Amino acid sequence: MDAPNLKTPLPGPKAKALIDRDDRVVSPSYTRGYPFVIARGLGAAVEDVDGNVFLDCAAGIAVNSTGHAHPAVVQAIIDQAQKFLHMSGTDFYYEPQVRLAEEMDAIAPFSGPKRTFFSNSGTEANEAAMKLARYHSKRHGVIAFLGSFHGRTLGSLSLTSSKALQRKGFGPPMGGTYHAPYATCYRCPVGLKPETCQAECLGFLEDQVLMHLVSPDEVAAVFVEPIQGEGGYIVPATQFHERLRALTKKHGMILIADEVQSGMGRTGKMFAMEHFGVEPDMITSAKGIASGMPLGVTTARAEVMDWTPGAHASTFGGNPVSCAAAMATITLLKDSLVKNSAEVGAFLMDGLTALKDKHQIIGDVRGRGLMIGVELVRDRQTKERASEERDRVVDEAFARGMLILGAGRNAVRFSPPLVLTKAQAETAIRIFDESLSAVTGAT
Ligand SMILES: Cc1ncc(COP(=O)(O)O)c(C=O)c1O
Repeated sequence: MDAPNLKTPLPGPKAKALIDRDDRVVSPSYTRGYPFVIARGLGAAVEDVDGNVFLDCAAGIAVNSTGHAHPAVVQAIIDQAQKFLHMSGTDFYYEPQVRLAEEMDAIAPFSGPKRTFFSNSGTEANEAAMKLARYHSKRHGVIAFLGSFHGRTLGSLSLTSSKALQRKGFGPPMGGTYHAPYATCYRCPVGLKPETCQAECLGFLEDQVLMHLVSPDEVAAVFVEPIQGEGGYIVPATQFHERLRALTKKHGMILIADEVQSGMGRTGKMFAMEHFGVEPDMITSAKGIASGMPLGVTTARAEVMDWTPGAHASTFGGNPVSCAAAMATITLLKDSLVKNSAEVGAFLMDGLTALKDKHQIIGDVRGRGLMIGVELVRDRQTKERASEERDRVVDEAFARGMLILGAGRNAVRFSPPLVLTKAQAETAIRIFDESLSAVTGAT
């Protein structure tokens, strides 16, 4: 499929009819930005129900890691589905789950033996991590960072602090949760420069939170996104992760890297934490791990995962079809796609960075591999957020046949399938350039 290839005004008649039906019966809590109704996908191209083909730089929110309908993943799903769909790893044994746990033992970014708990989504992977951290440490406190996203069930929502709207109306959060500023270097919370700062943003956690709010020996865990996703694709300075690791070690806190969005090759390494040379004690994975099949994975140091039978479980968690899709995904990632993510990601990053010369609205371009954020500002000096403009740029891109999503208050994120080619990256840069011009008038 050549993308883009638009044949009807958007939305087309079939898309419009389906959206009308959806409007009447589907939960109004979903945040659909533009009217895209998928009929099928192939690689990094997706076709809507009216035959319009789009370049997919969103990948179902950073999920379709191996691209749409990768034949090896589809075949693994068919093969497993023909054998059995479900047996519940909670009460029975099956090989695909054991094999995936062995694979996680091999690839998770920390040394020593590991164990893996299986669920169905990112939020569940984080719930399991949180429960395990409390269980193992016999402490109750959990710390997360402002701007982070860890999920929407009530436990993980208590850690999520991406948008107040996501917490509004859901009552008091889980007790024992605390937040500290993230290393948002473009808007440094303590007004310093990454080259010389020694991660002073963590001073708030050390000198305020752990002095005035909670005693360090009552903190079970710190959750951190290695690169903040929903918060705006924010890449912290390396010293932030180094200092956080030292701090958590000093106080016996479990360091949990939420790799739900940043993991599985997205950043040009299997896990984003590898960019920082820091070993967490636990990671959570979901999204890209099974190319679109639902799967949540919590992998911890074996000595930390010491809960006893019955302490935690999930009927569907680690479904055999999802595990088979994950194994096929990981094989593809290891064979070529992590490398492609690094190479095409660097190419895309260069192209987007070059647009800064023409488009004053681009304040910052950042990321690793194919996890790239472009922050839009009204003024490069004041860094006033160009939030409305960002939304319009996303719409303009859709009108030109490219799917992208916002992240944070005023950034656009590029999170395409990891099969993206350089030619497709060039198309993405061209469409983004045109979309910015359509909003700002820059020529
Ligand atoms: C870093 C991170 N953690 C957790 C989640 C929650 O994942 P899910 O929507 O599968 O529950 C997300 C989803 O965007 C995420 O980006």
